[in-house]
Amino acid sequence: MSPRSRALRRSSAAERLSKKIESRRAHLGVIGLGYVGLPLAVEFGRAGFQVTGIDIDKRRVHRLERGESYIQDVPTSEVRALVRAGNLKATSDFSVLRRIDAVNVCVPTPLSKQRDPDVSYIVAAAKQVATYLHPGMLVILESTTYPGTTDELILPLLTETGMKVGEDFFLAFSPERVDPGNPRFNTRNIPKVVGGVTPVCTEVAVRLYQQRLEQVIAVSSPQVAEMVKLLENTFRSVNIGLVNELALMCSRLHIDVWEVIQAAATKPFGFMPFYPGPGLGGHCIPIDPFYLSWKARASGFEARFIELAGYVNGQMPDHVVNLVAQSLNRRGHAVHGSRILVLGVAYKADIDDTRESPSIDIMETLRERGARIEYSDPYVPTLQFGGKRLRSLPLTPARLRRFDCVVIATAHKAFPYAAVLRHSKAVVDTRNALRGKRSPKIARL
Ligand SMILES: NC(=O)c1ccc[n+]([C@@H]2O[C@H](COP(=O)([O-])OP(=O)(O)OC[C@H]3O[C@@H](n4cnc5c(N)ncnc54)[C@H](O)[C@@H]3O)[C@@H](O)[C@H]2O)c1
Repeated sequence: MSPRSRALRRSSAAERLSKKIESRRAHLGVIGLGYVGLPLAVEFGRAGFQVTGIDIDKRRVHRLERGESYIQDVPTSEVRALVRAGNLKATSDFSVLRRIDAVNVCVPTPLSKQRDPDVSYIVAAAKQVATYLHPGMLVILESTTYPGTTDELILPLLTETGMKVGEDFFLAFSPERVDPGNPRFNTRNIPKVVGGVTPVCTEVAVRLYQQRLEQVIAVSSPQVAEMVKLLENTFRSVNIGLVNELALMCSRLHIDVWEVIQAAATKPFGFMPFYPGPGLGGHCIPIDPFYLSWKARASGFEARFIELAGYVNGQMPDHVVNLVAQSLNRRGHAVHGSRILVLGVAYKADIDDTRESPSIDIMETLRERGARIEYSDPYVPTLQFGGKRLRSLPLTPARLRRFDCVVIATAHKAFPYAAVLRHSKAVVDTRNALRGKRSPKIARL
């Protein structure tokens, strides 16, 4: 028997909760039903638990009550089946927490205007949990955040109730690593890292996830688990920053950066390909590293890789705008008054999420410089842009011919790339979507 399991046997509350979990009698809660929370609630529902999702967004709650999904990776058929079977409920009323044995907090963690962590959503959710905290309850934070949040921010709110962690209630952090749109890896088969405030907290949290997830990895503390997630996303941000710098360099040296990466990736060890692009997007990579640099700064340490990667990645939308300007200039046109079509406004291929999308930055800069902007994205039918609601344009040869330049900003598989090249006057390809094609019309990143 492991030391954690022995510790669990010494806590009667933990043993009771663990038995409830293993027999599926535990009532589970998920706070925040977005890209992270809804798939998790559905997985627990599929495992046979009764799950109640809590969200302050009443529209989302009503859609779930009707058995409808609003998250691309979660099919409506699954939500409907779980709702009908009574395994999934949704509410905006936090008082249900009174009856909930284990709750996962999956609320947003954005940056403030000053680019500091905005933990207000976590604090609001934790205060609600504290209001209804009861003996034997397990609380797990899943929102990405700086190391120390669980211990320094959440724990004091919960212990104010007079209950003791590891004895009366259990608290852990477990980072969510879901990759929306990934056909191979999902909530269930992505290994889950868990760090509890005490060994008993870790053990009950591990047991909960083990009921449905394929692999659970226990670490020694919430801080380690919090740092794991930030290492992963900083690793991506820094490597993308490096390869974006290489792309800017190659553009000056007239070397095809894509060919360089493709050839480098033939090395069977010690190299992992990353690809340049028009900038970072989504709710994770552009944001999470700054949670870490903020925390480092607070302890007097300057996280230089993070800041440098942020700087280089932040240059990319402007670089794309320059490529558009050069492409127009070659044909004697100015940006001002030109018609530009942006293909893809989601932040990455084959998904519908436009949060922090670099496409929007590119569109805004081009608009400020007097261009007339439209877009096409099969996943984003309408887009609020420049004070107007734009509609995604279907791609037809006649329509493509009307634009002075087409920018491939997101390489959705659904785009008809050969037709785009054939019928457009000029194409700026930021994703190497036209790989293998040679034409004076193409300007590659
Ligand atoms: N989207 C991803 O790919 C991804 C991947 C891994 C980790 N994460 C992390 O997971 C967390 C959630 O991200 P997301 O993409 O699911 O966000 P989201 O915006 O899709 O969903 C968050 C939900 O929380 C709700 N909410 C906000 N405050 C609330 C409160 N006080 N009480 C109840 N509900 C509340 C919102 O209405 C929304 O429905 C973030 O910390 C994010 O960094 C996201």
